[in-house]
Amino acid sequence: MSIKFYSGKEMPVEMHKARMVQKISLIPVEDRLRAMADAGYNTFLLTTKDIFLDMLTDSGVNAMSDNQFAGMIKTDDAYAGSMTFYEFAGAVEDVLGYKYVMNTHQGRAAEHLLAKVFAKSGDVIPTNYHFTTTKAHIELIGAACLEIYHDEALKTESSNLFKGNMDPNKLKKVIEEYGKDKVAFVRMEATTNLIGGQPFSMANLREIREICDKHGIILVLDGSLVCENAYLIRQREKGYDRKSVGEVVREICSFADVYYMSGRKNTSVRGGFIGTNNKELFDKIRPWLPVYEGFYTYGGMSMREIGAMAVGVREMVDPAVAGCAVEQIKYFVERVVEAGIPVVTPPGGLACHLDAMKFLPHVPQSEYPAGSLAAAFYICSGIRSMERGSVSMDRDREGKEVMADMELTRIALPRRVYTISHIEYAVDRINWLYKHRQLVKGLKFVYEPPVLRFFDGRLEPIEDWGRSLTEAFKREIGDY
Ligand code: F0G
Repeated sequence: MSIKFYSGKEMPVEMHKARMVQKISLIPVEDRLRAMADAGYNTFLLTTKDIFLDMLTDSGVNAMSDNQFAGMIKTDDAYAGSMTFYEFAGAVEDVLGYKYVMNTHQGRAAEHLLAKVFAKSGDVIPTNYHFTTTKAHIELIGAACLEIYHDEALKTESSNLFKGNMDPNKLKKVIEEYGKDKVAFVRMEATTNLIGGQPFSMANLREIREICDKHGIILVLDGSLVCENAYLIRQREKGYDRKSVGEVVREICSFADVYYMSGRKNTSVRGGFIGTNNKELFDKIRPWLPVYEGFYTYGGMSMREIGAMAVGVREMVDPAVAGCAVEQIKYFVERVVEAGIPVVTPPGGLACHLDAMKFLPHVPQSEYPAGSLAAAFYICSGIRSMERGSVSMDRDREGKEVMADMELTRIALPRRVYTISHIEYAVDRINWLYKHRQLVKGLKFVYEPPVLRFFDGRLEPIEDWGRSLTEAFKREIGDY
């Protein structure tokens, strides 16, 4: 929660206390350089023993609450018909308003089922912005994602409060151009992950819903970060400040025909689910659940995780939970802006996103500036971030490189895990790196998997710049 201090300063103050902790350690910079080289300059391939602050993602690494742990213990383990599943389904109905629900082992499994059931080869899926796994599943079917984002969406520095909006006019044009039968569904992502965690407004969602209604097109909502989107709507959209996060979430959900989410983010549990009030659509997906995921009442998740998720769904609309990452991100981004360092603004709901093309203007996009920046940031801080740029784009069907719309280095904030002093440390090392940015050069692939290459790909630094950066760090700061 953001609290105004007597001094006038506003600070995010944690609305929880730590009752169990995990020791972390910071290894010397020489060891960090070695670890980065061993990981092929890909932060996904680091191991946690070499990581000080793990800000790779907020997925599956949030701190669960005491009540969620209790929910895990109270679980009713059964292959079929577990009452824990029905507790979970009850929570989904109470919080999101969906009568029909099925679990999937995580968000991408829901995407797999939705692509399989609703899309076919040659179809298009207009979206306010794709996510990596969404696009992979849609393309594997032979369909295509069309990015129908708002004009401001790709401006990293902006004062537009809803850069996650879909452009309604572009959507109308797509429907006209392809014909409604080719539009498998329209997909809205709550806070567009790959372009800075930016929210859409309720007014925009309502307008998109109206267009879908007019043409009889299904509206699918990816609600992996629905609570952050709702929290930001409360803060930024006229008329919503008096509503609770829960009410805003419920209103968002009322616009979707089909909802899915990665539970790894908002519910702090490793799993996912699909929800809907449309029985006909539900019945189209349901037969495939036992084929790919598991029986109807567990869908690939462990019952214990479903027990924790039943609690997590209710807790995620608590403003102290929905707002904990949002407020920390705001604090983080404001410190980086104060230092004159290029970062995505306004702050969104997912991470502090450094703009690598502006941070490293001397590194061409073909040499992956966002990947270089993530590696350089690890070397000078021990903090793991994630490349969200061209390394995260797969080659097209002809095997040609596809350059990303943005080159971002994402420093995510898992919920209830890190504190303000950790953020201050991150800001300090970003500052140091910015002063030494000329030392950082590009990367080239030495091993490239055919799909989702960012996970397992290995790269090498051009001109061994990791060494020069390490030497400068040792000279000026020391080992740590
Ligand atoms: N949709 C969105 C918007 C996501 O952010 C993610 C995952 C998924 C779908 C896939 O869900 O991981 O449970 O299979 N995002 C993670 C991240 C991986 O780090 O941002 P999943």
